[in-house]
Amino acid sequence: MTLLEVKDLAVSFPTADGVVKAVRGVSFSVDAGRTLGIVGESGSGKTVLTQTLLGLTPGGDISGQAIFDGANLLTMTEDQMRNIRGAQIAVIFQDPLTSLHPLYKVGWQIEEMIRAHDRKVSRKEATERAIDLLNKVGIPQASQRVNDYPHQFSGGMRQRAMIAMALSLSPKLIIADEPTTALDATVQAQILDLLLRLQHEFDTALIMITHDLGVVADIADEVMVMYAGRAVEKASKHDIFYQPHHPYTKGLLESIPNSSAVTDRLKPISGQPPSLIRLPSGCAFHPRCTYVMDRCLDEVPELVAVGSAGAHRSACFLPVSAIGLGGDTEELRKKAVSEDRHAASAEVAEKIAAAPESEGSAIA
Ligand SMILES: Nc1ncnc2c1ncn2[C@@H]1O[C@H](COP(=O)(O)OP(=O)(O)OP(=O)(O)O)[C@@H](O)[C@H]1O
Ligand code: SF4
Ligand SMILES: [Mg+2]
Repeated sequence: MTLLEVKDLAVSFPTADGVVKAVRGVSFSVDAGRTLGIVGESGSGKTVLTQTLLGLTPGGDISGQAIFDGANLLTMTEDQMRNIRGAQIAVIFQDPLTSLHPLYKVGWQIEEMIRAHDRKVSRKEATERAIDLLNKVGIPQASQRVNDYPHQFSGGMRQRAMIAMALSLSPKLIIADEPTTALDATVQAQILDLLLRLQHEFDTALIMITHDLGVVADIADEVMVMYAGRAVEKASKHDIFYQPHHPYTKGLLESIPNSSAVTDRLKPISGQPPSLIRLPSGCAFHPRCTYVMDRCLDEVPELVAVGSAGAHRSACFLPVSAIGLGGDTEELRKKAVSEDRHAASAEVAEKIAAAPESEGSAIA
């Protein structure tokens, strides 16, 4: 059952330098109990996209629809939105200190969250629920630690406390925005395990925003790859990892250590993400794409079905059958490129080939 359906969402910010087109017509859906991974380089619009759903992008020009449980989040009043935030959709941020107030005890903050949405719950009941939640997220001696201040918790424990707070009102959807980026690898793995376990226990849907394809591999069901404010590829996790179509997705896979896409060495994606004020013409990825063709310079590729399964979509002019990482697919790509590469795109391709690899960026 579809829990959230976002249609053609666009968000831009007027600034002194020009209009920042942070999100440019993104559509996706999340089913109850499922996990959508959103991946892309820094500045690709992941946070703006999800914050907009919760009315947290003041100053942004917003268009499109975001139907959550039958109602459009984008047209809600602040009062209506307050009932959604926390109770229906909870957010976990990278830095728990942005959500946990340093001057209040951790337990008290969870209790307040519970009581803010239901005044009938007594302080004692709320404390019991807070202890129960801290136990569930693996805080040792929860009945004592409930009285600690955030600074008395380690980074990993603070993230666990954030998860407890996010779960406190049994939301239908959790948006986790880089929740493990600041943690070391072992703690990161524990937190992801915890999220997965609780997600199943509470049957919560999850949107996991990350730079890290390893995190996506661990927990996502579906994946949306974003580039310069647009969704450039959407597919099941399996297809993203084994049957990628978009050259940007392929580039991301080739830039992660231990990936099956890496043949001899890691290849960072050439160049840097574009300015969202002055976007490149045509396909926004064209100044970095080794497959650039003439039409890529001035036509914008739509997100279309590729491969044989209808759910796999990509916004790229390469043939729809050019999916995967193997030699045959590479031949198909090269053939398409040879047919539509003339003076203009040949010049772009030469620049990409001549760029020093150290100037490229890798996100993993
Ligand atoms: N209030 C704002 N005013 C102007 N520009 C903004 C505003 N908020 C975000 N942006 C710009 O929108 C773009 C997308 O930002 P966003 O934070 O969504 O990226 P992201 O994909 O979450 O990146 P990261 O991985 O670094 O968190 C960036 O260029 C950012 O500078
Ligand atoms: S449309 Fe062209 S430039 Fe864009 S990703 Fe595909 S081949 Fe590369
Ligand atoms: Mg972000």
